[in-house]
Amino acid sequence: MKLKNVSLRLGKKQVLDDLSFSIDKKTALVGPNGSGKTMTLSVISQLMIPQRGHLFDPSNNDVLEDESFKERLGVMIQEGNFDPDRTVKEELELVKRLKNDDVDIGKLLKKYDIDNLPIKELPHGKYKIALLLQALLGKPELVILDEPFSGLDIINRKVIEKILKEYKGKLLITSHLLNDLKNVCDNIVFIKEGRVIETNKIKKIRNLDKYYMQLYK
Ligand SMILES: Nc1ncnc2c1ncn2[C@@H]1O[C@H](COP(=O)(O)OP(=O)(O)OP(=O)(O)O)[C@@H](O)[C@H]1O
Ligand SMILES: [Mg+2]
Repeated sequence: MKLKNVSLRLGKKQVLDDLSFSIDKKTALVGPNGSGKTMTLSVISQLMIPQRGHLFDPSNNDVLEDESFKERLGVMIQEGNFDPDRTVKEELELVKRLKNDDVDIGKLLKKYDIDNLPIKELPHGKYKIALLLQALLGKPELVILDEPFSGLDIINRKVIEKILKEYKGKLLITSHLLNDLKNVCDNIVFIKEGRVIETNKIKKIRNLDKYYMQLYK
């Protein structure tokens, strides 16, 4: 899958500027606050319509911007879109039906020690794990994750990391926690002011924090 020449202007601001990169295997998308990571995911999930460019499948040149692609996409955005008054089981059952999955939700919740509480009563760590589990339902063609590790303690970050490591499909993940990304991703894309400044194999970079500081200083 490839993003090609994506430009997004909001008001006077050029948020994404001729942005192109490949999403192969598990790809990390990093950059400073305001560099356009969330907006890139918004374009992929069709919440934002860019003035130029698109996501496409290089194997057949299909442009991936229709309703059917939305159904083949798994999405974990920061706040999530669970109904706060419904229970976590109800919400996951709903996504399971939409995505035609046959997983046992009760077992899944048990596995991750998530009590079947109303969403608004779930501890933040369990909430994020539930958001991730719903994004992975139905074996999506691509899963996009915005800051899946943010606000979590190390134990919950390790749970998220393990789920992502075991997952076999394509992922695009944004995070400021570079070492968490290193344990999960194959490739890394660095962006600045809506443009790609470098792409690399993540394992090739020994000290990601240092490398990042050099790139953005
Ligand atoms: N509605 C809008 N109108 C104009 N500019 C906007 C609008 N929404 C977002 N922006 C700008 O778009 C840019 C990219 O924002 P985005 O949220 O994608 O950054 P980000 O890389 O996800 O940052 P963070 O690491 O803080 O999550 C920012 O400079 C932001 O100010
Ligand atoms: Mg963001």
